[in-house]
Amino acid sequence: MAPRKIIIDTDPGQDDAVAILLALASPEELELLAITCVAGNVPLDYTTRNARIIRELSGKAEVPVLAGCDRPMTRALVTAEHVHGRTGLDGPDLPDPVLPLAPGHAVDHLIDTLRRHPPGTITLCPIGPLTNIATALDRAPDIAPRIKEIVLMGGAYFAVGNVTPAAEFNIHVDPQAADIIFKSGVPITVVPLDVTHKALVTRARNDAIRAIGTPVARAVAEMTDFFERYDRTKYGQDGAPLHDPCVIAYLLRPNLFSGRHINVEIETTSELTMGMTVADWWGVTDRPANALFLGDIDADGFFSLLTERLARL
Ligand code: RIB
Ligand code: CA
Repeated sequence: MAPRKIIIDTDPGQDDAVAILLALASPEELELLAITCVAGNVPLDYTTRNARIIRELSGKAEVPVLAGCDRPMTRALVTAEHVHGRTGLDGPDLPDPVLPLAPGHAVDHLIDTLRRHPPGTITLCPIGPLTNIATALDRAPDIAPRIKEIVLMGGAYFAVGNVTPAAEFNIHVDPQAADIIFKSGVPITVVPLDVTHKALVTRARNDAIRAIGTPVARAVAEMTDFFERYDRTKYGQDGAPLHDPCVIAYLLRPNLFSGRHINVEIETTSELTMGMTVADWWGVTDRPANALFLGDIDADGFFSLLTERLARL
C-alpha cells in the first residue's frame, strides 16, 4: 500500500521535534511532503530554525521546510519559552542548520499542494497553533474538500487546560483559527491532553531511547530531559507528557488509541475560557458530531513504537 501523504504544521518545540523524527523514521507508512512552520512555542524565526535543525539531524534533507504565519489571526502571540527554553529546542547541543528554507509562504504552499494532488489524498497534521491551516482555508475555501483528514494535537476535556484553567496551548494561542478548522467540515481527529497526559516520558522510557546510542536518540533523550523538567514540577508526575508524537503514532497505529465522534466547539469570546475546546463527550446537546475526539492511549505500545522507529534514524 502506498504511504500516506502528510504535511506536518508545527511550532518546534522539543515534542514537535520528536513527532517530525517519528514521521521521518516511518517512510513505508508516511510520505512527509512538507514541514510548515508557525509561531507558537517560540517565535517563527526559532520554529523555522528548529525545523531545519531536526530535518538535518534526521538526514532527510529532501523534505521542504517553509515559514508560515508569525502571529495568530487576530490575537497577540503567546509563546512558551518557560517550557521549551529560549530557542524552543533547548537541551541538546545541535549544529546550526545549513540547508535553507524552501521559498514562499507556508500558507501558499499548503494551498498549492492541496490543489496539485488528487482530492482526499493529503492528511494535515497540525501540532502547534492552527494559524497556517485556518489562513489557508480562509483564503482558499476550495481546498477544504480536498483535505483527506486533519489530525491535530490540541484541546482538552477531562484533562482541562494547561496554559489556562480552561484551554490547551495550541488552541488558546489562536482560538479563531481553531474555530475555522472545527467549522470547516473537514474530517478531524483530535489528540487532546486527555490522551497526551497519559503518554508520560518516564525515566525508564527515556533511558530506553537513550540506550539506542545514536545521535538522533541522544538528542531526543536530551530534549526530553530538558522539556520534562517543567511538567514534572507542575504535575508532580514521573515524566512529562510527550504530546505531539501521539499524532504521528495515531497515523501509524490507530489501534493504540480510542475515542468518540462528538461535537467540539471553540470558545472565542470569553477571556476567562478563551480557547477552550467545548467537547460534548456525553452527548448532552444536539450539536452535530464534527470530530473524532480521542480519550485513551496504550502508552506502553506508543513508547515501544517510538523507540523502535527512532532506532531506524
Ligand atoms: O499543549 C501542548 C502543545 O503545545 C504541544 O504541541 C506543544 O508543542 C505546544 O505546542
Ligand atoms: Ca507543538
